[in-house]
Amino acid sequence: MKPSEVAEEVNAERLVRRLGELGEVGRDGAGRTRLALTPQDKEGRDLIVGWLREAGAQVKVDRIGNIYGCLPGRNDGPPIMLGSHIDTVVRAGAYDGCYGVIAGIEVLHCLSATGSRQQRSVAVAAFTNEEGVRFTPDLLGSRVMAKNIALEEALDIHSSDGNVVREELERIGYLGDLSPWELLPAVFLELHIEQGPVLDASGIGIGIVEAVQGHSWWRVVIDGMANHAGTTPMDLRQDAGVAAMQIAIKLHNSAAKAGIPRVATIGSITVEPNAINVVPGKALLTVDFRDPDEEKLREAERLLEISLRKAREAGFRASAECISRSSPVRFDPALCSLLEQTAAHLGLSARRMLSGASHDAQMLAGICPTAMIFVPSRLGISHNSREHTEPAALAQGAQLLLETTRQLAVVGESNGITGIRAERV
Ligand code: GLV
Ligand code: MN
Ligand code: MN
Repeated sequence: MKPSEVAEEVNAERLVRRLGELGEVGRDGAGRTRLALTPQDKEGRDLIVGWLREAGAQVKVDRIGNIYGCLPGRNDGPPIMLGSHIDTVVRAGAYDGCYGVIAGIEVLHCLSATGSRQQRSVAVAAFTNEEGVRFTPDLLGSRVMAKNIALEEALDIHSSDGNVVREELERIGYLGDLSPWELLPAVFLELHIEQGPVLDASGIGIGIVEAVQGHSWWRVVIDGMANHAGTTPMDLRQDAGVAAMQIAIKLHNSAAKAGIPRVATIGSITVEPNAINVVPGKALLTVDFRDPDEEKLREAERLLEISLRKAREAGFRASAECISRSSPVRFDPALCSLLEQTAAHLGLSARRMLSGASHDAQMLAGICPTAMIFVPSRLGISHNSREHTEPAALAQGAQLLLETTRQLAVVGESNGITGIRAERV
C-alpha cells in the first residue's frame, strides 16, 4: 500500500475535549442520560451540527432524523461514510457512539484543511436511536436507511412513555426533509470503543471487527392474580413476579451453561402493583439474547417459548413480543484487509475480532461494504458511567480512521474496495 501524500494528524486534544463537552449534555450523576429524541438528545445534536459546520461540512438531516455532514469530492458518486450515534443508555459513559461521530468530524477537519477537494465525497453520519432504550427497535436510523424497517413504520413507533417518533423528531427540530436513501454510501466505516475486555486484556490497540453477533429482544408479559400478602396461602397464589423471576433465572442459567459467546440478559423487570404487601398480579420483563450463530440464537428463542409454555401450564397468562432482531452479520473482507494494512502502515498493533455489542454498521453492511474499528475499553466496562478509553488510544483509532478514509477517498478507487457487497451470514 502506498501511503497517501497528505500526512496530517487528527487533533487529539480537540477530539478528547469534544467528547468531554458532549459528555456533559444530559449529565445524570456520574454519567449522562441522553435518550433518543429527548431535549438532551437535541442539545447533543446541536453540538454535533455546529462541529460539522466548523469542519467545513454541509449539514443535512433526513426524514428519520439522521444527521449528515458532507464534504463533496471531485466526483459526484456516493460518499465514503463514517459514523455512529450520540444517543445513550441510562447513566451512560461518554464514549459509546459519540467517539465514532466526533472522530469522523476530526477526519473532515483534516480533509478540508488541505484546501483541495478529495476524489470522493466523505460524509459523517449520526444515526437516530441506535440504543433502542426509549424506542424499539434499536438501530432505528440505520435500519431505515438499510430498508430493514419502512420509514412510515419507524415514524409511527411509540415509546414506553407514550410518545411517537415523528412527533418527538418534530418537537426537537430534527424531522428533516432529505430522503434517507439520498446519501447511500459507497463504503461505511464505524469507529467505536470495544465495550468488552478483549483489547484491554491483551494490550492490543486496535480491533478490526470482522463480524457482529446477532441479537434478539423480547418484551414478556405474565399475568397472575394480585392478592393479599398476609392472607393468601403460598399454594393458592398466582404470583406473576415469582413466575417472571423463574423465567429470568432459567434463561440466565441456560446462557451461562452454554458458555462464551452466548449471553442472555433480563435488563428490566417490573411488577404490578409493585407494593410490599400485595402478591404481584402482573410482571413485565425484557429479554436480550445474543449469539454469533443464527441457529444458536434461534435455540435461545425456543427456550423462551418453552418457559412461557410452562408458565401457562401453571395457570398464568404469558406472552412475548419480539421488539428487535438482527441476524449475525459479517463485514466486508476487503475492507477488513485494508484496515489491517493501514494499521500496520501506521505502526499500530491490531487483531481481528467479533463485536458483542450491536452497531449501526450491522445495518449498513446490508447495503454497502462495511467494517468497524475498535479501541480498548478499560476493564471492558461499558453502558456504565465508568466507561473509559485512554486519550492516546482514542487518537490512534481516529488516526486509523483518517488514514483509511484517505485510502478510500483520496487515493481513489484503485484499491478495488468500491462495489464489493457485504455478506450476510
Ligand atoms: C447497543 O449498545 C447494544 O449493543 O445494545
Ligand atoms: Mn454504540
Ligand atoms: Mn450502546
